[in-house]
Amino acid sequence: MSREAEFPNLTVIKHPLVQHKLTWLREAQTNTDSFRNLLREVAQMLAYEATRDLPTELQTIQTPITEMQSPIISGKKLCLVSILRAGNGMLDGILSLLPLARVGHIGLYRDHETLEPVEYYFKVPSDIAERQVIMVDPMLATGNSAVAAIDRVKATGCPSIKLLCLLAAPEGVANMLKHHPDVPIVTASLDSHLNEHGYIVPGLGDAGDRIFGTV
Ligand code: URA
Repeated sequence: MSREAEFPNLTVIKHPLVQHKLTWLREAQTNTDSFRNLLREVAQMLAYEATRDLPTELQTIQTPITEMQSPIISGKKLCLVSILRAGNGMLDGILSLLPLARVGHIGLYRDHETLEPVEYYFKVPSDIAERQVIMVDPMLATGNSAVAAIDRVKATGCPSIKLLCLLAAPEGVANMLKHHPDVPIVTASLDSHLNEHGYIVPGLGDAGDRIFGTV
């Protein structure tokens, strides 16, 4: 059985455009400007896939030729929630596809002693419980931040959440499956494993550093 087949919560987007751009995101020589642009483009394509099941309803419109019933998106409104800071690198691309979505931010750091995520920032729309949430974080490594962020969003009463990440490690996907089996994950790649420093292998390095040029 392939690794991906072990994870019913995971969708890996194999589209050639996504995979081509991912290759250049992984390449260490890719500069900050190109990295940001590529991430924005791939995030948009991941969002395209993650919104595949949005409900639609028919609207009566008038084309230049005739009246017709044509589909428009209906149902719950959307809220993107970025896990700081690297999640912000995915927002612009997704917002260009979903311009009416609201945006929340969650900041978490890892306590050096307990190794548990500690929240330092939380700002989401007041009506988040009525919205469909798309959480964004480019790197699903241990999954501890994503699990904690989703715990926090679920505590607001939000019943419908998806997680978009550029790369996922099996350890992070398993952690999500254990704690939030109801949250589908959409990614461009299920990578091999985490190294002893918690980096995804083969990965692309520190996504935040590569987006913001802080290496
Ligand atoms: N966060 C990153 O930015 N990169 C990794 O490889 C793992 C976590």
